[in-house]
Amino acid sequence: MCGIVGYLGNREAALILINGLKRLEYRGYDSAGIATLSNGDMFVVKEVGKIRKLEEAIAEKTPPGTVGIGHTRWATHGKPNQINAHPHTDCSGKIVLIHNGIIENYSVLKQLLEKTGHSFKSDTDTEIVAHLIEELYDGTNFEQAFREALQRIEGTFGIAVLNKDEPDKIYVARKGSPIVIGVGEDEYFVASDVTPLIPHTRNVFYLEDDEMAILTRQGIITKTIQNKVVEKQVQRITLQLDDIEKQGFEHYMLKEIFEQPKTIMDTMRGRILREEGLVKLGGLAEVEDKLMHAGRIIIVASGTSWHAGLIGEYLLEEFCRIPVEVEYASEFRYRNPIINENDIIIAISQSGETADTLAALREGKHKGALVLGIVNAVGSTIARETHAGVYIHAGPEIGVASTKAFTSQVTALVLITILIARKKYMSVVQGKQMLDDLQKIPANVEKILAQNDYIRELAETYYSQRNFLYLGRGYNFPVALEGALKLKEISYIHAEGYPAAEMKHGPIALIDENMPVVFIATQDAIYDKVISNIQEVKARKGRVICVANEGDEQIEKHADHVIYIPYTCKALTPLLSVIPLQLLAYHIAVLRGCDVDQPRNLAKSVTVE
Ligand code: AGP
Ligand code: GLU
Repeated sequence: MCGIVGYLGNREAALILINGLKRLEYRGYDSAGIATLSNGDMFVVKEVGKIRKLEEAIAEKTPPGTVGIGHTRWATHGKPNQINAHPHTDCSGKIVLIHNGIIENYSVLKQLLEKTGHSFKSDTDTEIVAHLIEELYDGTNFEQAFREALQRIEGTFGIAVLNKDEPDKIYVARKGSPIVIGVGEDEYFVASDVTPLIPHTRNVFYLEDDEMAILTRQGIITKTIQNKVVEKQVQRITLQLDDIEKQGFEHYMLKEIFEQPKTIMDTMRGRILREEGLVKLGGLAEVEDKLMHAGRIIIVASGTSWHAGLIGEYLLEEFCRIPVEVEYASEFRYRNPIINENDIIIAISQSGETADTLAALREGKHKGALVLGIVNAVGSTIARETHAGVYIHAGPEIGVASTKAFTSQVTALVLITILIARKKYMSVVQGKQMLDDLQKIPANVEKILAQNDYIRELAETYYSQRNFLYLGRGYNFPVALEGALKLKEISYIHAEGYPAAEMKHGPIALIDENMPVVFIATQDAIYDKVISNIQEVKARKGRVICVANEGDEQIEKHADHVIYIPYTCKALTPLLSVIPLQLLAYHIAVLRGCDVDQPRNLAKSVTVE
């Protein structure tokens, strides 16, 4: 979601802040702003829209100062306009802050503050915090006012504050929204994730909930917002600049789609013992026994990660015979779920920061469950708060629409399945076979990517449609959901995914010559049933695009267009069948002139409820 950056050092802050904000652009935002402090003066610049506009606004006269904060906003309270953009100030203009999250008790606080004479400029919840600190600040002990204000706030925050009275300090705190601090040589950085820090330093530490930091020119003080000193361990990040650049691709999303042969391989790397048909997952070593004896596995996730979770359900139930439930994290957290002693919760998240997923896992933990994570972002909150887990090692995913994280999540779920199944019902021969098939996936993904031009041509035929239906059965049902989500997210075309056989229970009413239907019709035990479903669509003049297996000669008789993918065992099919759907969505969105990497209204990591 929106991003925070901060700088305190000897260099010009404004430029570092702007470059940092650019690196956070991928998280999704609607407006941006910076504030710098120089010789007792505060300089605030804010703009609606892209960082480019902010850059233009400061081009003529760069705000001076070697200390500053910057923000990209994803509006929750108040329209995305210049006044509501952060930074926000108190009445005196002394206190300037940026905030990521939601102040839930903002209206009560606002009323109280209005009574004591504060006047508000914006419609945001955030501005309340600046006034609350002002109200509590006696002109001498700013830190105390900061801590007290944070304790009165209900909701979530990642926050950074400048105070004119203390021109060489940045106050930072976190509750629910990620904050990482970069430690350079005589300079310090604050950010919502490590991407803005990479060009400057690799030494970082993360704040936990209810922790704060005071960046000073002499070093960093860390404590809880209740004023208990905490020691933080600086760790080194290994991310390279290359990992977060486009490398010649027109969009991050396309780059990430094309990275999948490598990223799927990276998820498996060092984890396969082929001869024994076994899997080794260091992060789960201590909980393997518990996993094997799990009474039930509950997967919690959101969006694309939830779709990966559905595939996990098919895998774990089929091969491990463990009952699995897949829950939307946002629902799970509020419905007082029943969690039994032997239940295990698996949270799946690319960013590791999704507020709903984090809250769901905390709820599970609170009820005594063992909580595991399947996470991409190393060191993220979900990775830190789970008891154990598996990193998917897909590398930074910048495109808002998740692609490579999905295939790596599914790969990780396959590995977990084999890990458990081999201790239960899966023979060494079966284990070996499945691992062999898995190791062939990257080369097969490569073959599908080679059809990029053909898929672009298909997109040209269909890009002006207003609706799409995606249908699949079994392991391909979650792929249908994922294909539809990809299309609607980036092209704004209305799309629905359904289990193919459910079509006749309702969606069939929508079918006419204007409804393209994408079928995933790979060869498995229910192939013939899917062919019947295709017939039902054709009989009603629907236009059919099929994803089918190479060598399937009869499919062309039924479909208007076919995208062929290599054959693999049915449990691994999603790893291949999703690829053409990602490409189709991508090309349709490009042809419609949409902002593929930063679709409207969406954020990369949704750190608010
Ligand atoms: C995917 O394309 C979406 N942008 C979104 O649904 C995403 O998968 C969801 O917000 C979950 O994110 P996470 O994996 O980072 O937790
Ligand atoms: N709730 C704040 C606002 O609407 C912060 C939103 C954000 O996280 O960007 O301004």
